[in-house]
Amino acid sequence: MKLAVNVDHFATIREARQSDEPEPILAALLAEQAGAEGIVCHLRGDRRHIKERDLRLLRDVIKTKLNLEMAATAEMKKIALKIKPDVVSLVPERPEELTTEGGLNVIASQKNLAPFIQELVKARIKISIFVDPDLKQIQACHKVGVSLIEINTGKYADAKPGRTRQKALREIQKAAEYGHELGLEIHAGHGLDYKNVLPIMAISEISELSIGFSIVARSALVGVELAVKEMVALLEKG
Ligand code: PXP
Repeated sequence: MKLAVNVDHFATIREARQSDEPEPILAALLAEQAGAEGIVCHLRGDRRHIKERDLRLLRDVIKTKLNLEMAATAEMKKIALKIKPDVVSLVPERPEELTTEGGLNVIASQKNLAPFIQELVKARIKISIFVDPDLKQIQACHKVGVSLIEINTGKYADAKPGRTRQKALREIQKAAEYGHELGLEIHAGHGLDYKNVLPIMAISEISELSIGFSIVARSALVGVELAVKEMVALLEKG
């Protein structure tokens, strides 16, 4: 299973002091050297962590795959068309949220999403939709013309080990199977860490995980290369 490392929270640490350290670009390069097969960053409307400067520099230096998470707004579309990341991941965004709170409501926004996606696909950008493990939402993703979805593992990650977590895991499994049957490429992410990632790895339809916070937190203690290497080693076992 492939690992894409989300570097947002290296920028969060930098912004805590409005400083120029730590450099998220350097973190991304170290992550690639340690085996990450993609780099993810979320350019938010409020620019609370990643800035346009980061995105531009990442585009220049990333050798694997740059995945830009963004809201489906006119402002972000313009930026994506200019920067041309390899992948754009469409996520919902609320200014007050601490982190992305759930998958995109694709059913409710199908009409606007379809032309938005078409325009980016025309520019040869691959589009992913961050979606809850809900079969109707996944069917809507297929309808709006994406070839890739990222299943939200947040509910699973937030649940304590036990029945609720098992139920959330089964939902992810079913969603991955359904998406795969529709011919979609399946990724997953949100809230995954060195412990809770193991059952997710067992879902064979999922080909890539997007992991940020837990790797940044571990990097603060052991360094970026070791933190990423440890996660890559875990994923290689799966
Ligand atoms: N996938 C998406 C769509 C996200 O918004 C995020 C958080 O930015 C992640 C994955 C990574 O989540 P975490 O930082 O909890 O690993």
